[in-house]
Amino acid sequence: MNSAPFYRSWIGGSSELVWRYTSSVRDDAEIADKVVEVMKAHVRHLAEVGAIPRDAASAIISELERVEAGELLGGRFEDVHEALEKRLIDALGESAGGWVGLGRSRNDHVAAAIRLAALDRVRELRSALQTLRCVLARRALEYAECAMPGFTHFQPAQVITFGHYLLALDELAAEFLRVLEPAESLLRRSPLGAGPAGGVRAPIDRVRLARLAGFDEVVENALYASGGRFFAFALASLVTAFLAELSRAVDDLVRWSAPMIGYVRAPDRHVSTSSIMPHKRNPVTLEVLRARCSEAMGHLVALLGVPAKVGLGYSLDLQESTRHLWRILRIAIEGVGVLADFVEGMHFDCARAAEDARQYHTTSADTAESISLSGVPFRQAYFRLAEEIKQGSAGLLSIEEALRRPTLGSANPGEVRRAAAARLAHCEPARGTAPAESK
Ligand code: ARG
Repeated sequence: MNSAPFYRSWIGGSSELVWRYTSSVRDDAEIADKVVEVMKAHVRHLAEVGAIPRDAASAIISELERVEAGELLGGRFEDVHEALEKRLIDALGESAGGWVGLGRSRNDHVAAAIRLAALDRVRELRSALQTLRCVLARRALEYAECAMPGFTHFQPAQVITFGHYLLALDELAAEFLRVLEPAESLLRRSPLGAGPAGGVRAPIDRVRLARLAGFDEVVENALYASGGRFFAFALASLVTAFLAELSRAVDDLVRWSAPMIGYVRAPDRHVSTSSIMPHKRNPVTLEVLRARCSEAMGHLVALLGVPAKVGLGYSLDLQESTRHLWRILRIAIEGVGVLADFVEGMHFDCARAAEDARQYHTTSADTAESISLSGVPFRQAYFRLAEEIKQGSAGLLSIEEALRRPTLGSANPGEVRRAAAARLAHCEPARGTAPAESK
Protein backbone atom coordinates (compact mmCIF):
# COMPACT_ATOMS: atom_id res chain seq x y z
CA MET A 1 0.00 0.00 0.00
CA ASN A 2 1.20 3.51 -0.81
CA SER A 3 1.64 4.90 2.67
CA ALA A 4 2.06 8.61 2.05
CA PRO A 5 -0.23 10.82 4.13
CA PHE A 6 -3.61 11.02 2.47
CA TYR A 7 -6.03 13.49 4.06
CA ARG A 8 -3.28 16.02 4.42
CA SER A 9 -2.01 15.74 0.85
CA TRP A 10 -4.00 18.78 -0.26
CA ILE A 11 -2.27 20.94 2.36
CA GLY A 12 1.07 19.78 1.04
CA GLY A 13 1.65 16.67 3.09
CA SER A 14 3.25 16.28 6.43
CA SER A 15 6.72 16.11 7.87
CA GLU A 16 8.35 13.22 9.67
CA LEU A 17 8.38 15.33 12.84
CA VAL A 18 4.66 16.12 12.72
CA TRP A 19 3.67 12.61 11.71
CA ARG A 20 5.65 10.99 14.50
CA TYR A 21 4.34 13.46 17.01
CA THR A 22 0.65 13.29 16.17
CA SER A 23 -0.06 9.88 14.63
CA SER A 24 -2.01 7.35 16.69
CA VAL A 25 -1.17 4.30 14.55
CA ARG A 26 0.77 2.59 17.33
CA ASP A 27 -2.09 2.88 19.81
CA ASP A 28 -4.59 2.02 17.09
CA ALA A 29 -3.50 -1.63 17.31
CA GLU A 30 -6.11 -1.85 20.08
CA ILE A 31 -8.98 -0.84 17.81
CA ALA A 32 -7.89 -1.65 14.24
CA ASP A 33 -10.11 -4.75 13.84
CA LYS A 34 -13.12 -2.87 15.23
CA VAL A 35 -12.48 0.05 12.85
CA VAL A 36 -12.76 -2.43 9.97
CA GLU A 37 -15.94 -3.97 11.43
CA VAL A 38 -17.52 -0.57 11.95
CA MET A 39 -16.69 0.38 8.37
CA LYS A 40 -18.38 -2.77 7.09
CA ALA A 41 -21.58 -1.95 8.98
CA HIS A 42 -21.42 1.63 7.72
CA VAL A 43 -21.03 0.67 4.06
CA ARG A 44 -23.70 -2.02 4.31
CA HIS A 45 -26.07 0.56 5.74
CA LEU A 46 -25.22 3.23 3.18
CA ALA A 47 -26.09 0.71 0.49
CA GLU A 48 -29.36 -0.40 2.07
CA VAL A 49 -30.61 3.18 2.36
CA GLY A 50 -29.57 3.79 -1.23
CA ALA A 51 -26.98 6.45 -0.39
CA ILE A 52 -24.22 4.72 -2.38
CA PRO A 53 -24.26 2.45 -5.45
CA ARG A 54 -24.80 -1.21 -4.57
CA ASP A 55 -21.94 -2.46 -6.72
CA ALA A 56 -19.52 -0.05 -5.03
CA ALA A 57 -20.77 -1.27 -1.66
CA SER A 58 -20.24 -4.94 -2.52
CA ALA A 59 -16.76 -4.21 -3.85
CA ILE A 60 -15.89 -2.33 -0.65
CA ILE A 61 -17.28 -5.05 1.57
CA SER A 62 -15.36 -7.81 -0.21
CA GLU A 63 -12.22 -5.72 0.07
CA LEU A 64 -12.89 -5.13 3.78
CA GLU A 65 -13.12 -8.90 4.23
CA ARG A 66 -9.58 -9.12 2.88
CA VAL A 67 -8.13 -6.42 5.13
CA GLU A 68 -5.88 -7.71 7.89
CA ALA A 69 -6.15 -5.19 10.72
CA GLY A 70 -2.40 -5.36 11.28
CA GLU A 71 -1.55 -4.16 7.78
CA LEU A 72 -3.20 -0.80 8.55
CA LEU A 73 -0.66 0.00 11.23
CA GLY A 74 2.52 0.08 9.19
CA GLY A 75 2.30 3.18 7.04
CA ARG A 76 2.86 6.84 7.66
CA PHE A 77 -0.76 7.63 8.37
CA GLU A 78 -2.37 9.86 10.93
CA ASP A 79 -4.35 6.92 12.15
CA VAL A 80 -5.96 3.62 11.26
CA HIS A 81 -9.00 5.37 9.77
CA GLU A 82 -6.92 7.20 7.21
CA ALA A 83 -4.96 4.02 6.48
CA LEU A 84 -8.16 2.06 5.90
CA GLU A 85 -9.72 4.60 3.56
CA LYS A 86 -6.49 4.84 1.59
CA ARG A 87 -6.26 1.05 1.44
CA LEU A 88 -9.76 0.85 -0.04
CA ILE A 89 -9.17 3.59 -2.58
CA ASP A 90 -5.84 2.07 -3.64
CA ALA A 91 -7.50 -1.29 -4.16
CA LEU A 92 -10.79 -0.22 -5.71
CA GLY A 93 -10.14 3.21 -7.17
CA GLU A 94 -11.95 6.44 -6.32
CA SER A 95 -15.08 5.35 -8.14
CA ALA A 96 -15.85 2.65 -5.57
CA GLY A 97 -13.49 3.25 -2.61
CA GLY A 98 -14.21 6.97 -2.64
CA TRP A 99 -17.71 6.38 -1.22
CA VAL A 100 -16.61 5.39 2.28
CA GLY A 101 -16.14 8.97 3.40
CA LEU A 102 -19.85 9.66 3.07
CA GLY A 103 -21.98 9.92 6.20
CA ARG A 104 -19.17 9.40 8.65
CA SER A 105 -16.33 11.11 10.38
CA ARG A 106 -13.34 9.67 12.15
CA ASN A 107 -14.82 11.17 15.28
CA ASP A 108 -17.91 8.96 15.41
CA HIS A 109 -16.05 5.96 14.00
CA VAL A 110 -13.23 6.06 16.53
CA ALA A 111 -15.72 6.44 19.39
CA ALA A 112 -17.57 3.37 18.08
CA ALA A 113 -14.40 1.31 17.72
CA ILE A 114 -13.22 2.23 21.23
CA ARG A 115 -16.56 1.18 22.69
CA LEU A 116 -16.53 -2.16 20.86
CA ALA A 117 -12.90 -2.92 21.73
CA ALA A 118 -13.54 -2.00 25.37
CA LEU A 119 -16.51 -4.40 25.39
CA ASP A 120 -14.19 -7.22 24.32
CA ARG A 121 -11.72 -6.34 27.06
CA VAL A 122 -14.51 -6.21 29.64
CA ARG A 123 -15.62 -9.67 28.51
CA GLU A 124 -12.06 -10.94 29.06
CA LEU A 125 -11.99 -9.28 32.44
CA ARG A 126 -15.30 -10.86 33.46
CA SER A 127 -14.04 -14.28 32.53
CA ALA A 128 -10.79 -13.77 34.47
CA LEU A 129 -12.86 -12.69 37.47
CA GLN A 130 -15.09 -15.76 37.23
CA THR A 131 -12.00 -17.97 37.26
CA LEU A 132 -10.60 -16.09 40.24
CA ARG A 133 -13.89 -16.45 42.11
CA CYS A 134 -13.96 -20.19 41.61
CA VAL A 135 -10.35 -20.57 42.75
CA LEU A 136 -11.12 -18.47 45.83
CA ALA A 137 -14.20 -20.54 46.68
CA ARG A 138 -12.40 -23.87 46.23
CA ARG A 139 -9.54 -22.80 48.44
CA ALA A 140 -11.88 -21.17 50.97
CA LEU A 141 -13.62 -24.49 51.40
CA GLU A 142 -10.26 -26.16 51.92
CA TYR A 143 -9.20 -23.56 54.48
CA ALA A 144 -12.60 -23.12 56.16
CA GLU A 145 -11.26 -24.26 59.55
CA CYS A 146 -7.81 -22.72 59.20
CA ALA A 147 -7.62 -20.15 62.02
CA MET A 148 -5.48 -17.04 61.72
CA PRO A 149 -5.43 -13.59 63.25
CA GLY A 150 -7.68 -11.14 61.44
CA PHE A 151 -5.76 -7.89 61.30
CA THR A 152 -6.90 -4.33 61.90
CA HIS A 153 -4.25 -1.61 62.00
CA PHE A 154 -1.96 -4.52 61.03
CA GLN A 155 -2.28 -5.66 64.65
CA PRO A 156 -3.75 -9.06 65.51
CA ALA A 157 -7.45 -8.25 66.05
CA GLN A 158 -10.02 -11.02 65.97
CA VAL A 159 -9.53 -14.64 65.05
CA ILE A 160 -10.80 -15.48 61.55
CA THR A 161 -10.01 -18.29 59.16
CA PHE A 162 -8.04 -18.14 55.94
CA GLY A 163 -11.19 -19.35 54.18
CA HIS A 164 -13.00 -16.27 55.51
CA TYR A 165 -10.18 -14.08 54.22
CA LEU A 166 -10.41 -15.61 50.74
CA LEU A 167 -14.15 -15.06 50.67
CA ALA A 168 -13.58 -11.37 51.43
CA LEU A 169 -11.77 -11.20 48.10
CA ASP A 170 -14.60 -13.11 46.45
CA GLU A 171 -17.05 -10.52 47.72
CA LEU A 172 -14.90 -7.77 46.22
CA ALA A 173 -14.93 -9.57 42.88
CA ALA A 174 -18.71 -9.97 43.12
CA GLU A 175 -19.27 -6.27 43.84
CA PHE A 176 -16.96 -5.29 41.03
CA LEU A 177 -18.82 -7.50 38.56
CA ARG A 178 -22.02 -5.87 39.73
CA VAL A 179 -20.87 -2.32 39.07
CA LEU A 180 -19.27 -3.31 35.79
CA GLU A 181 -22.68 -4.05 34.35
CA PRO A 182 -23.96 -0.48 34.07
CA ALA A 183 -20.58 0.62 32.72
CA GLU A 184 -20.84 -2.08 30.07
CA SER A 185 -24.31 -0.91 29.16
CA LEU A 186 -22.83 2.49 28.30
CA LEU A 187 -20.34 0.81 25.98
CA ARG A 188 -23.19 -0.86 24.12
CA ARG A 189 -24.51 2.52 22.91
CA SER A 190 -23.63 3.56 19.38
CA PRO A 191 -22.21 6.93 18.36
CA LEU A 192 -22.42 6.01 14.64
CA GLY A 193 -24.18 8.47 12.41
CA ALA A 194 -23.21 11.36 14.68
CA GLY A 195 -20.65 12.58 12.16
CA PRO A 196 -18.03 15.07 13.30
CA ALA A 197 -20.20 17.00 15.80
CA GLY A 198 -23.78 17.57 14.70
CA GLY A 199 -24.98 14.66 12.56
CA VAL A 200 -24.65 13.91 8.84
CA ARG A 201 -26.61 14.59 5.73
CA ALA A 202 -26.63 10.99 4.45
CA PRO A 203 -30.01 9.40 5.33
CA ILE A 204 -28.62 7.14 8.04
CA ASP A 205 -31.04 5.29 10.30
CA ARG A 206 -28.92 5.41 13.41
CA VAL A 207 -30.86 2.72 15.25
CA ARG A 208 -30.49 0.29 12.35
CA LEU A 209 -26.79 1.13 11.91
CA ALA A 210 -26.23 0.60 15.64
CA ARG A 211 -27.68 -2.93 15.33
CA LEU A 212 -25.56 -3.69 12.26
CA ALA A 213 -22.42 -2.67 14.12
CA GLY A 214 -23.29 -4.77 17.17
CA PHE A 215 -24.64 -2.10 19.53
CA ASP A 216 -27.88 -2.18 21.55
CA GLU A 217 -28.77 1.49 21.64
CA VAL A 218 -27.87 4.88 20.24
CA VAL A 219 -26.13 7.78 21.97
CA GLU A 220 -28.58 10.36 20.75
CA ASN A 221 -26.94 13.75 20.84
CA ALA A 222 -24.41 13.89 18.03
CA LEU A 223 -21.98 16.26 19.72
CA TYR A 224 -21.86 14.09 22.82
CA ALA A 225 -21.77 10.88 20.79
CA SER A 226 -18.69 11.83 18.77
CA GLY A 227 -16.88 14.01 21.31
CA GLY A 228 -17.87 12.50 24.67
CA ARG A 229 -15.74 10.03 26.58
CA PHE A 230 -17.77 9.58 29.74
CA PHE A 231 -18.11 5.85 29.01
CA ALA A 232 -14.32 5.48 29.11
CA PHE A 233 -13.93 7.65 32.20
CA ALA A 234 -16.60 5.64 34.04
CA LEU A 235 -15.20 2.25 33.07
CA ALA A 236 -11.61 3.16 33.86
CA SER A 237 -12.61 4.65 37.22
CA LEU A 238 -14.41 1.48 38.25
CA VAL A 239 -11.61 -0.81 37.15
CA THR A 240 -9.05 1.31 38.97
CA ALA A 241 -11.16 1.40 42.13
CA PHE A 242 -11.27 -2.38 42.00
CA LEU A 243 -7.50 -2.56 41.55
CA ALA A 244 -6.98 -0.19 44.48
CA GLU A 245 -8.92 -2.52 46.74
CA LEU A 246 -7.37 -5.66 45.27
CA SER A 247 -3.87 -4.35 45.84
CA ARG A 248 -4.52 -4.39 49.58
CA ALA A 249 -4.86 -8.17 49.45
CA VAL A 250 -1.81 -8.42 47.23
CA ASP A 251 0.10 -6.51 49.88
CA ASP A 252 -1.15 -8.92 52.59
CA LEU A 253 0.08 -11.89 50.60
CA VAL A 254 3.47 -10.26 50.08
CA ARG A 255 3.86 -9.59 53.80
CA TRP A 256 2.59 -13.01 54.81
CA SER A 257 5.21 -14.58 52.51
CA ALA A 258 8.04 -13.05 54.56
CA PRO A 259 9.64 -15.82 56.64
CA MET A 260 9.17 -13.81 59.87
CA ILE A 261 5.43 -14.16 59.34
CA GLY A 262 5.56 -17.30 57.25
CA TYR A 263 1.84 -17.86 56.75
CA VAL A 264 2.04 -17.99 52.98
CA ARG A 265 4.27 -20.21 50.92
CA ALA A 266 4.18 -18.80 47.39
CA PRO A 267 4.00 -21.34 44.58
CA ASP A 268 7.53 -21.92 43.25
CA ARG A 269 6.39 -20.76 39.84
CA HIS A 270 5.64 -17.32 41.32
CA VAL A 271 8.94 -16.71 43.09
CA SER A 272 12.25 -15.53 41.85
CA THR A 273 15.52 -15.57 43.70
CA SER A 274 18.50 -13.30 44.06
CA SER A 275 21.63 -13.35 41.92
CA ILE A 276 23.77 -13.17 45.06
CA MET A 277 21.60 -14.39 47.99
CA PRO A 278 20.65 -17.94 47.14
CA HIS A 279 18.22 -18.24 50.05
CA LYS A 280 15.78 -15.67 48.64
CA ARG A 281 12.20 -16.51 47.57
CA ASN A 282 10.94 -13.20 46.30
CA PRO A 283 7.19 -13.06 45.56
CA VAL A 284 7.83 -11.30 42.27
CA THR A 285 4.48 -11.72 40.56
CA LEU A 286 2.72 -10.11 43.51
CA GLU A 287 5.25 -7.32 43.61
CA VAL A 288 4.65 -6.54 39.95
CA LEU A 289 0.91 -6.79 40.45
CA ARG A 290 1.04 -4.44 43.44
CA ALA A 291 3.05 -1.96 41.38
CA ARG A 292 0.71 -2.22 38.38
CA CYS A 293 -2.32 -1.50 40.57
CA SER A 294 -0.67 1.79 41.48
CA GLU A 295 0.36 2.34 37.89
CA ALA A 296 -3.32 2.02 36.91
CA MET A 297 -4.07 4.97 39.20
CA GLY A 298 -1.54 7.00 37.23
CA HIS A 299 -3.20 5.98 33.97
CA LEU A 300 -6.59 6.96 35.36
CA VAL A 301 -5.32 10.41 36.25
CA ALA A 302 -3.96 10.75 32.70
CA LEU A 303 -7.18 9.45 31.12
CA LEU A 304 -9.30 11.94 33.06
CA GLY A 305 -6.79 14.74 33.10
CA VAL A 306 -5.67 14.92 29.48
CA PRO A 307 -9.05 15.88 28.01
CA ALA A 308 -10.33 17.71 31.09
CA LYS A 309 -11.33 21.27 30.25
CA VAL A 310 -11.06 20.50 26.52
CA GLY A 311 -14.44 21.69 25.17
CA LEU A 312 -17.20 19.21 24.36
CA GLY A 313 -16.45 18.51 20.69
CA TYR A 314 -13.71 16.16 19.49
CA SER A 315 -10.12 17.29 19.98
CA LEU A 316 -6.96 15.30 19.40
CA ASP A 317 -6.46 15.39 23.16
CA LEU A 318 -8.99 12.56 23.27
CA GLN A 319 -6.71 10.42 21.14
CA GLU A 320 -3.92 11.03 23.63
CA SER A 321 -6.02 9.86 26.55
CA THR A 322 -7.42 6.63 25.09
CA ARG A 323 -4.24 4.57 25.46
CA HIS A 324 -4.58 4.86 29.23
CA LEU A 325 -7.90 3.03 29.12
CA TRP A 326 -6.21 0.09 27.36
CA ARG A 327 -3.39 0.04 29.89
CA ILE A 328 -5.81 -0.01 32.82
CA LEU A 329 -7.86 -2.84 31.33
CA ARG A 330 -4.74 -4.84 30.51
CA ILE A 331 -3.40 -4.41 34.05
CA ALA A 332 -6.69 -5.68 35.46
CA ILE A 333 -7.05 -8.67 33.12
CA GLU A 334 -3.48 -9.86 33.61
CA GLY A 335 -3.45 -9.10 37.32
CA VAL A 336 -6.62 -11.04 38.07
CA GLY A 337 -5.19 -14.01 36.15
CA VAL A 338 -1.90 -13.87 38.04
CA LEU A 339 -3.63 -13.64 41.39
CA ALA A 340 -5.90 -16.60 40.59
CA ASP A 341 -2.86 -18.68 39.67
CA PHE A 342 -1.08 -17.63 42.86
CA VAL A 343 -3.99 -18.50 45.12
CA GLU A 344 -4.51 -21.78 43.28
CA GLY A 345 -0.92 -22.84 43.93
CA MET A 346 -0.08 -21.31 47.31
CA HIS A 347 0.13 -23.04 50.66
CA PHE A 348 -1.11 -21.49 53.90
CA ASP A 349 0.50 -22.57 57.18
CA CYS A 350 -2.55 -23.01 59.41
CA ALA A 351 -0.61 -24.26 62.44
CA ARG A 352 1.59 -21.20 62.49
CA ALA A 353 -1.25 -18.76 61.95
CA ALA A 354 -3.40 -20.44 64.63
CA GLU A 355 -0.51 -20.18 67.05
CA ASP A 356 -0.39 -16.40 66.50
CA ALA A 357 -4.14 -16.18 66.88
CA ARG A 358 -3.82 -17.94 70.24
CA GLN A 359 -0.79 -16.07 71.46
CA TYR A 360 -2.06 -12.59 70.60
CA HIS A 361 -5.42 -12.69 72.41
CA THR A 362 -7.52 -12.69 69.25
CA THR A 363 -10.49 -14.13 71.12
CA SER A 364 -10.78 -11.21 73.55
CA ALA A 365 -13.77 -9.56 71.85
CA ASP A 366 -15.64 -12.87 71.70
CA THR A 367 -14.83 -13.54 75.35
CA ALA A 368 -16.05 -10.10 76.46
CA GLU A 369 -19.22 -10.52 74.41
CA SER A 370 -19.82 -13.95 75.80
CA ILE A 371 -19.49 -12.69 79.41
CA SER A 372 -21.82 -9.84 78.59
CA LEU A 373 -24.38 -12.19 77.06
CA SER A 374 -24.51 -14.04 80.34
CA GLY A 375 -25.97 -10.86 81.90
CA VAL A 376 -23.06 -8.44 82.54
CA PRO A 377 -23.21 -4.95 80.97
CA PHE A 378 -20.66 -5.08 78.15
CA ARG A 379 -18.41 -2.23 79.34
CA GLN A 380 -18.10 -3.87 82.75
CA ALA A 381 -17.15 -7.20 81.18
CA TYR A 382 -14.70 -5.41 78.88
CA PHE A 383 -12.82 -3.60 81.67
CA ARG A 384 -12.70 -6.72 83.79
CA LEU A 385 -11.20 -8.68 80.91
CA ALA A 386 -8.75 -5.88 80.06
CA GLU A 387 -7.41 -6.02 83.59
CA GLU A 388 -7.08 -9.80 83.48
CA ILE A 389 -5.25 -9.65 80.13
CA LYS A 390 -2.84 -7.13 81.68
CA GLN A 391 -2.28 -9.44 84.67
CA GLY A 392 -1.92 -12.48 82.42
CA SER A 393 -4.78 -14.21 84.17
CA ALA A 394 -7.54 -13.92 81.56
CA GLY A 395 -9.53 -17.04 80.80
CA LEU A 396 -10.07 -16.36 77.12
CA LEU A 397 -12.29 -18.43 74.88
CA SER A 398 -10.46 -20.95 72.74
CA ILE A 399 -10.16 -20.26 69.06
CA GLU A 400 -12.69 -22.93 68.24
CA GLU A 401 -15.23 -21.48 70.70
CA ALA A 402 -14.59 -17.94 69.53
CA LEU A 403 -15.16 -18.86 65.91
CA ARG A 404 -18.63 -20.20 66.68
CA ARG A 405 -20.17 -16.81 65.90
CA PRO A 406 -23.77 -16.99 64.78
CA THR A 407 -23.84 -14.01 62.41
CA LEU A 408 -24.26 -14.17 58.67
CA GLY A 409 -20.92 -13.73 56.90
CA SER A 410 -18.86 -14.30 60.04
CA ALA A 411 -15.61 -16.28 60.08
CA ASN A 412 -17.44 -19.27 61.56
CA PRO A 413 -16.13 -22.30 59.61
CA GLY A 414 -19.72 -23.40 59.04
CA GLU A 415 -20.53 -20.03 57.53
CA VAL A 416 -17.39 -20.10 55.37
CA ARG A 417 -18.32 -23.58 54.12
CA ARG A 418 -21.87 -22.47 53.36
CA ALA A 419 -20.80 -19.37 51.43
CA ALA A 420 -18.01 -21.18 49.58
CA ALA A 421 -20.31 -24.03 48.59
CA ALA A 422 -22.98 -21.62 47.37
CA ARG A 423 -20.36 -19.94 45.24
CA LEU A 424 -18.93 -23.23 43.94
CA ALA A 425 -22.34 -24.22 42.65
CA HIS A 426 -21.67 -21.70 39.86
CA CYS A 427 -18.23 -23.12 39.04
CA GLU A 428 -17.23 -26.01 36.87
CA PRO A 429 -15.41 -28.76 38.74
CA ALA A 430 -11.69 -27.88 39.03
CA ARG A 431 -10.26 -28.16 35.54
CA GLY A 432 -6.70 -29.05 34.66
CA THR A 433 -5.42 -25.83 36.17
CA ALA A 434 -2.03 -25.79 37.82
CA PRO A 435 -2.55 -27.38 41.24
CA ALA A 436 -1.49 -26.22 44.67
CA GLU A 437 2.13 -27.04 45.28
CA SER A 438 2.76 -29.19 48.30
CA LYS A 439 5.00 -27.65 50.90
N1 ARG B 1 -6.86 8.99 15.84
C1 ARG B 1 -7.99 9.65 16.39
C2 ARG B 1 -8.26 9.12 17.81
O1 ARG B 1 -7.71 8.13 18.16
C3 ARG B 1 -9.18 9.41 15.53
C4 ARG B 1 -10.05 10.60 15.32
C5 ARG B 1 -9.31 11.70 14.65
N2 ARG B 1 -10.17 12.77 14.30
C6 ARG B 1 -9.68 13.87 13.80
N3 ARG B 1 -10.54 14.76 13.48
N4 ARG B 1 -8.41 14.08 13.68
O2 ARG B 1 -9.00 9.70 18.55
